[in-house]
Order: sequence, then C-alpha cells, then structure tokens
Amino acid sequence: MRVLMISSEATPFAQTGGMAEVLAALPTALTKIGVEVDVVMPMYRSVIAGAAAGRFEIENTNKLVSLVLNDKKVSAEIWRLRKQNADQPTPAQYFLRCDEYFDRDGLYGSGETNFQDNAERFVFLSRAALEMAVVLGHQYEVIHSHNWQAALAPVYLRTLYMVEPQLSRTASVITIHNLGYQGIFWHLDMPLVGVGWEFFTPKYMEFHGNLNFLKSGIVFSDMVNTVSSGYREEMLTPEYGFGLEGVLQEKGNDLTGILNGADYNVWNPEIDPYIAQKYNLNDLSGKAHCKADLQRVSGLPEASDVPLVVMVSRFTSQKGIDLLENAIPSLMEKDIQIVVLGDGELRYKDNLATLAKKYPQKMAAFLSYDYELVHKIFAGADIVLVPSRYEPCGLNQMYAMRYGAIPIVRATGGLKDTVVPFNSENGLGTGFKFIDPTGAALSLAVFRAIDIYCSQKDDWKRLVVRSMSQNFSWEISAREYVALYQKAIAKRMRMTNPGLRQV
Ligand code: GLC
Repeated sequence: MRVLMISSEATPFAQTGGMAEVLAALPTALTKIGVEVDVVMPMYRSVIAGAAAGRFEIENTNKLVSLVLNDKKVSAEIWRLRKQNADQPTPAQYFLRCDEYFDRDGLYGSGETNFQDNAERFVFLSRAALEMAVVLGHQYEVIHSHNWQAALAPVYLRTLYMVEPQLSRTASVITIHNLGYQGIFWHLDMPLVGVGWEFFTPKYMEFHGNLNFLKSGIVFSDMVNTVSSGYREEMLTPEYGFGLEGVLQEKGNDLTGILNGADYNVWNPEIDPYIAQKYNLNDLSGKAHCKADLQRVSGLPEASDVPLVVMVSRFTSQKGIDLLENAIPSLMEKDIQIVVLGDGELRYKDNLATLAKKYPQKMAAFLSYDYELVHKIFAGADIVLVPSRYEPCGLNQMYAMRYGAIPIVRATGGLKDTVVPFNSENGLGTGFKFIDPTGAALSLAVFRAIDIYCSQKDDWKRLVVRSMSQNFSWEISAREYVALYQKAIAKRMRMTNPGLRQV
C-alpha cells in the first residue's frame, strides 16, 4: 500500500504543536509494517536553515510543480530529504520549495498576526501535493491530509484531479488534530481554490458565509479520524464541535478515533541524552539526580522531598494555562515548587513572568520553547499538569508517565482516555483527573496528589512504577491507520465501481 501524507509541519523540520511529532513518528511506524509512506510539506525557512546548519541533508529532485491560482502562475521545486540508510525502508520526506510563500519567519504568521495570504499558501500546498504525485509518477492508494492546511487535497481529488488517471481511484483520509483551527477565510478566496462557485454551498465548502477549509476536507474525504476516541465523541457535541458537530455527525461510521502513540525512541529516560542521569523502571536512582538538576537549572532550592510540579505547554486558553495562573496563589501556600515552560500568547507570558518574580524560591518560568530543557523537565518532575479545556490527544501526559512523573489532567478527550485515576482503595491508577475547568478544581487535584506524595510514599512509588510501565506505542496506532486506509480504499472502490455495491 502506498500513501502520501500532506502536512504543514513535521519534526524536526518545522513545528508549532504536537501534530509535527505525529508526522515524525507515524510514517516510520507505518513503514515498519510494510506501508510505503511519502510525506510532503512546505520548505519553510526553518527547513532551509536546518539543512544549512547540517542538522539534516536535503536535495533538489530537479523536478517542478506549476499551478495557476486565480490567473497567477506559481511554481515550486520538489526537494527531498536525503536517505540515511539505504538498507532500511524509511518514509520519503518531500518539501515544496516556493520561497514566495514559505521562506518567512513563522509558519502561519508573525507574532500574533496571521499571514494575509494563508488561504493562498495552503491552497497551494494541497494542490501542489497532488501535482507532485503526478510529476513524480507515484501511484498512491491513499492521500492522507492532516488538519486544515492540507484539507483541500480531498476536494481536489474529487474535482480537478478526478480525470487524472493516476489519482482517479485514490482514496482520501483526513486527520483532525484540533477542531479549534479550521482555516476559515472570506468567500472571495473561492476563485483561488479554483473548483467553481457551485461548491460554495452549506453542503460542501461554505460555513456561515465564509470558506472553511477543514469542513471541506471533512465533507470530501472518504474517511475522517481524530486522535483519540474520547475526542471523537466530544467533537459531535455543540460544546466541543466548534460549529462542525453537524457535519461530523453526518459522517457516521466514517469518523473514527485513533489514539496517538508516544515516540519512545525520543521520550524515554533510559536513552535520553539530555537528562542528568539515565534511569529506568528497575533503577529509579537517576531520577533524583534529574530532579536536583532541574532545580539547579530553574534556580530553585535543591530539595529532594518538595514536590516538583511542572507544566509544558503552548500558552493558549485551550491548554488551560489560565487555570494554573488562577491556582498559583493557593498552591504557593504549600511546600511545593512549580516550573513552567512554553511559548504562546503574550498576556500569559507576562502573567507567568510576574508570578515567577513574585515567588522566586518556589516558581520558575521559561518563556520560550527549549527542546532539551523539556526533556530535563519531564525527567526532573514529580507531577506534570495538563489542565486543557479540550485536548484531542495530548502527548505530554504520555511522555510524563514514561519519565515517572505523575500526570494531573482535566478529564477531556485524549487525556481522559490515557490517564487512569488513582484509586486510594485498591491503590490502582496512573494519575489524577479533575472535571471543572477552574483554578480551584486544579488546586484541589494538586493538593490531593501532593498529599499522597508526602504522606503515602509507598502508594506514590507504586503510582510511578505503574505510570512508567504504560505503553502508548505507535505500533498499535499504525495498525489502526492501516485498517482506516483499507476502509477508505474499499469505500472508493464501491464509488468507482457502482456494480460492486450489491456484492
Ligand atoms: C494537536 C492537539 C493535541 C494532539 C496533537 C497531535 O496539537 O491539540 O491534543 O496531541 O495535535 O495529534
């Protein structure tokens, strides 16, 4: 089976969120079970810079894709990652180089402002990806789009590219990593899309007078999935559906949930090169060193018995960073240390900086993303907070568990699916959950956790051991993706061979 994934990010080339990590791990896991996977993404400035700095090698295929978008001719060079080890099958990584669109600081905007031409940039990505398939002569069984930035590919597959022999039978799948980002643009971007105004109706691409990329992708894809079963259910409700609940309900069984895995080649204290001392389930002594190291790096007192609570996040309302801000005054009354790391909206960064200044002995805030430090943080932490208002999957709680840091999560989406609440009667569970999206509810959950940490040391140890033994591996998810691809292919076969419908 051959699959083309279209994405706007992939680690280590360009990343703003968890989706990029999925695009690094899932193609590899699929390759291991015999799927031939190609990935295509824009050649951003960060890709050019990463290659120039020697972090990876890329090469020009000397092939071009050319498109006409609303009378404007645009071309991109097709580049690819040079393969490291030719003996082992690996996914092929392609980049579309169109400097006019992608050689900029930032992927979707600069600072807090989106680029004005995002509709055009991502119309280009989806269409150029299909064009690339044609130019390279690749025959794909499935086109797999991720998020709104790639969501027009399934539309093109059923419209402009329907007559293209190479793609006319290709099935399509779209993965929704976050329904809160839909790619909504004004109606006058329709000519840029180039499929004709007849599709600008509520049945297809129109959404409250605007053009909605994600909705279009959902409508046109053979199969749709999101990144946990819990979020699949939530998406169908007005509370979590962001206005698309009706469109999603119509997909019925063609909408599924597949939990992301955690990449244990990267997030694993046994082999992690960035932490002070490696450790594993059988010998946890290294974790104490990692805690002391994190306290040092954060400028906090080196105290082995004080519970160290961390949060690594994008600072947006979705992630519930304001819940932590509201909880801080009551948390600070306890013997506790808090370390926060992340990037995001300025108002949150300002608040966190002020709080860290106010409590220098108890709180530290790192206000930009730092990959190495994130590893140190999980390794040093006793408790990891994931207080999201909604969370399609969430990766931090999985990473936390592997590092023996106990997650406290809000009971939503993938967080609900992956954390089993601690049960004081039988001592089972892997973490703590709270329900109300408030600072008070978060505080109570933290109080409960630190109480056990301080006074029921055996229970805590068991919690750590159980958390570390969880296995959220990509192998299981990859098999579910293969089943999803097979369903999409079968559905497409029925559509293209109506005679088969009776069988
Ligand atoms: C988005 C979601 C997050 C998910 C990630 C990868 O960032 O918000 O919950 O884990 O995508 O699918």
